[in-house]
Amino acid sequence: MHIRKFLSAIFCLLSLTASLSGQDVTALEKIGPVTGFVRNESGLTLTCQDNSQVRLTILAPDLIRVRASFTKSLPDKDHSWAIAKTDWPAVRWSVREDAAAITIVTDEIEVVIHRSPLLLEFRDARTHETINVDEQPMAYDARGVMTERLFDPKAGRMVVASKKLGFDEHFYGLGEKASRLDKRRDSFVNWNSDTPGYTEGKDPIYQTIPFYLGLNRGVAYGIFFDNSYRSYFDFGHSSQQRAWFGAEGGELNYYFFYGPALKKVVSRYADLTGHMPLPPLWALGNQQSRWSYYPDTMVERVVREYRERDLPLDVVHLDIDYMSGYRVFTFDAKRFPDPRALTERLGRQGVKLVTIVDPGVKHQPAAAGAPPPSPSRPELGPHDQRYYVYDQGIEKNYFQHRQNGELFVPKVWPGESAFVDFTKPAASRWWGDLHRAYTDSGIAGIWNDMNEPSDFVDQTGKNQLDVVSFDEGENSTHAKNRNVFALLMARATYEGLQRLRPDRRPYVITRAAYAGIQRYSTMWTGDTNSTWEALALNIPMFTTLGLSGEPFVGSDVGGFIGRGNPELLVRSYQISFLAPFCRNHKVIDGYDQEPWRFGKPYEDIIRRYLKLRYRLLPFLYTTLEEAHRTGVPLFRPLMLNYQDDPATYNLDDEFMIGNDLLVAPVVKPDVTQRLVYLPKGVWYDYWTNRKYEGGRLIRADAPLETVPMFVRGGAVIPLGPEMNYVQEKPLDPITFAIYPDEKGSAAATIYEDDGLTPDYKQGAFRRTAISVRQNGAGYTASFSTPEGSHRPGARTFILAVQSERASLQTKTITDNGSARTVDVK
Ligand code: GLC
Repeated sequence: MHIRKFLSAIFCLLSLTASLSGQDVTALEKIGPVTGFVRNESGLTLTCQDNSQVRLTILAPDLIRVRASFTKSLPDKDHSWAIAKTDWPAVRWSVREDAAAITIVTDEIEVVIHRSPLLLEFRDARTHETINVDEQPMAYDARGVMTERLFDPKAGRMVVASKKLGFDEHFYGLGEKASRLDKRRDSFVNWNSDTPGYTEGKDPIYQTIPFYLGLNRGVAYGIFFDNSYRSYFDFGHSSQQRAWFGAEGGELNYYFFYGPALKKVVSRYADLTGHMPLPPLWALGNQQSRWSYYPDTMVERVVREYRERDLPLDVVHLDIDYMSGYRVFTFDAKRFPDPRALTERLGRQGVKLVTIVDPGVKHQPAAAGAPPPSPSRPELGPHDQRYYVYDQGIEKNYFQHRQNGELFVPKVWPGESAFVDFTKPAASRWWGDLHRAYTDSGIAGIWNDMNEPSDFVDQTGKNQLDVVSFDEGENSTHAKNRNVFALLMARATYEGLQRLRPDRRPYVITRAAYAGIQRYSTMWTGDTNSTWEALALNIPMFTTLGLSGEPFVGSDVGGFIGRGNPELLVRSYQISFLAPFCRNHKVIDGYDQEPWRFGKPYEDIIRRYLKLRYRLLPFLYTTLEEAHRTGVPLFRPLMLNYQDDPATYNLDDEFMIGNDLLVAPVVKPDVTQRLVYLPKGVWYDYWTNRKYEGGRLIRADAPLETVPMFVRGGAVIPLGPEMNYVQEKPLDPITFAIYPDEKGSAAATIYEDDGLTPDYKQGAFRRTAISVRQNGAGYTASFSTPEGSHRPGARTFILAVQSERASLQTKTITDNGSARTVDVK
């Protein structure tokens, strides 16, 4: 008896904690068969037997939107915080029908709408082969069979789309997930969560990017399920039949992208949700952080160490202790008495300051008779009696409230706090304008943290379920708004910085996010552990974020939580020296881990990689600009460049920068060699110039001082001079390291601009193409007429053809920005 009770209690517990992904989605109510349709210029609206409506909108020949409303008509309101582009040029398409199906045909896709049951099938318009097909009709939880299992049963009902799973189908994307590159047979939840010390498999973590790529027999497609409610993705985890996705409320609303090239899907996703603007060039510089550096003299000491040790540095981050009692938009008067003077002193050494800004505004009603804050610099005044940010937020009704009208009071670093309702346009603008407190002091960038939003009262979000947001007059609750909170906070920050400093590119870093975040912010992967397991996750996480529309990524170098060790720190730099965001950061109760922390031998290795990063800046910046323009990330999984090579589909301990640099880091202790997979073609060992024929595994030396690194034959890598901070010197000379392919050819472009202002958007850049071919015993290099109006002035170009020989063939010329052909003998 007792045993039975015990077992049933355990069973009960297990079923309560079981994830929704274990659910049988076939139990849901399926949408009815099609009874008719109307056509307009951009697509079809279907009506169904159960009064449901489905709208298919043709946005581009390779992009179709699917929107369904169950048992009722689609609402007129159609709004998403994620979408950047709604105005698409007209597309040529046609429709045909027979008794069984209605078919939409564009130049690239056929959408076959099977009438009964209603199943959507996406096919290649040329080959007519199926790319992706519904495994069951779109479904919703009419009878509430899943209600018990929902996180917020009051928020809505499950809506689900279910797709047939290919036996050779691979899945990528979903933004920030603590998992491997290929997500086949796994399942995921999206619900932005503060998860310090997460390990592989922890889910969800900080961000929600409900966009994935499928690669089915080498053919790529993408699906963006634009629904901000708690959502679920199951890639053949609960059943080998299907890959399904769904959400706890809102519409079944998704976008289908067709490749067949992965890069094309990624690019279209950027068109739809926004292209990352270029950050300032110094954002690619080395960054140092600590929870927390204070007082100001401590910050200067860290900078002095960097300079005295000849270690490059561009940015120092001020974590929460710079504030007066964790009040955002203030400075602690003792620790940072004159922030303006500090940023000026650091500026003379080429170093910028970035301050953390959390969403929690200290809950501090003004004390009776408290004097008003200084109108000119309220952030510098005493804040124990009166806190201007809180006062203004209350007065203007910008903070979030519960459904019963009470102010919502979460607990974060300042203790009791209030959160801004960033869905209110005026509140968002106010928040952006508050950043004057920083820009007036010369602060160069803003770090948004705790924006899931984290609440110490309850990290799951349950304490926030009845919190209401304005949401365009809908006054919707947390279930809909949690996942977009960080996106809207980053938007307010970015737009505020733009207004405050229109001649500078904003630099924002965020922890949490929703799709579209790349329009406003760069990101880092939150509170990692200082362990080898966590380090190994760097590669699949950075590449996955890149595939999911977030090219500017990085992780706390050395890991955030825990002791760490010299070997781990060095190996960590050997990944991050090529990550867009390269910042060493450590928790408050952790051990110091600046590059010099473990002694000279390790510091010397770290210096070598940081110096190389700065030499590679022209190459990194060129690939970053490509990411901005095309959406194709710079930090890439090999499969993105070698889609036809199945050996790359699961490969997540190597990465590439752009098309040309392949890196195979060491992510385990005590390793001095490793196997490296090189795709087909010629490869050069970056360190020795030894040539390899690809399409196979090779064994590479990887003692602690060496990260195996290879350059693709056919590439030209532009290198600048050594520098200790970005733009310390003009880009002169530029060395073009030429790596001929099997035919003796190589080509590249190099992108340059002022690195600071938004003028590049108006054509103030220079793009120079170089192509090289073999010419007898030597080579001929041709430079195109540069594109763009940026004029860097005359400088030296060094052309250096790489080979296994001891002496390279080189040629030095003066570049004056005109097209020319030169021989390198
Ligand atoms: C969070 C951040 C971490 C920061 C800390 C204190 O844990 O993720 O980077 O140091 O808060 O602000």
